[in-house]
Amino acid sequence: MKTYLVTGGAGFIGSNYIHYMFKKYKDIKIVNLDKLTYAGNPENLKEFENNENYVFIKEDICNAEAVNKIFQEYDIDRVVHFAAESHVDRSIKNPEIFVQTNVIGTTVLLNAARNAWEQEDGTYKEGKKFLHVSTDEVYGSLEEDGTFFYETTPYSPHSPYSASKASSDMLVKAYIDTYKFPANITNCSNNYGPYQFRRN
Ligand SMILES: NC(=O)c1ccc[n+]([C@@H]2O[C@H](COP(=O)([O-])OP(=O)(O)OC[C@H]3O[C@@H](n4cnc5c(N)ncnc54)[C@H](O)[C@@H]3O)[C@@H](O)[C@H]2O)c1
Repeated sequence: MKTYLVTGGAGFIGSNYIHYMFKKYKDIKIVNLDKLTYAGNPENLKEFENNENYVFIKEDICNAEAVNKIFQEYDIDRVVHFAAESHVDRSIKNPEIFVQTNVIGTTVLLNAARNAWEQEDGTYKEGKKFLHVSTDEVYGSLEEDGTFFYETTPYSPHSPYSASKASSDMLVKAYIDTYKFPANITNCSNNYGPYQFRRN
């Protein structure tokens, strides 16, 4: 049975992901690490409360001691890292918390996963993977001329939100290059749907 550490699983996309995964796979365990900021809603996952393969941990991803403890307690196979301060307008009013959660928090998670997964010879335990969920906003804005962003498009963040996500992407890329850390990054565009936080 694979064990997933999902961060930010009480938020919009994270909770949809947990619903999707439990529907698709019967034999997985999910540990959901979420601080429950204004954006996190445990009601999104109420139906899993009594599921013995679901564990909820209310904690801040910036708390290195707590995050390391999770890796000691559970044999985590996959990290799916959604947790973030994610609303652009809030980042303009209060950039510091975006740097704290999105940059420092991501680094804490990378270090904890590396500590748990790296072997003495520098290789990693079989089957381990860290998925960093980022955004297309790291590439800036598109003109309305039908052009696209590509993975090779230069980063050009414009808000504190996108700058903090771009920083976290760079850290993940640096861990992949420097430590051969097993990670992937996704840069999806905007989503909407069930469990989305209502801003007004
Ligand atoms: N929503 C979109 O359209 C969109 C588009 C592209 C990328 N993304 C990315 O997807 C991810 C999820 O986005 P979302 O819209 O679901 O976000 P969201 O704001 O709805 O949820 C974020 C979750 O993270 C938790 N969280 C925040 N700070 C935390 C911390 N310090 N420690 C632990 N948990 C914390 C919150 O409680 C919340 O449950 C983000 O990384 C975001 O950058 C979102």
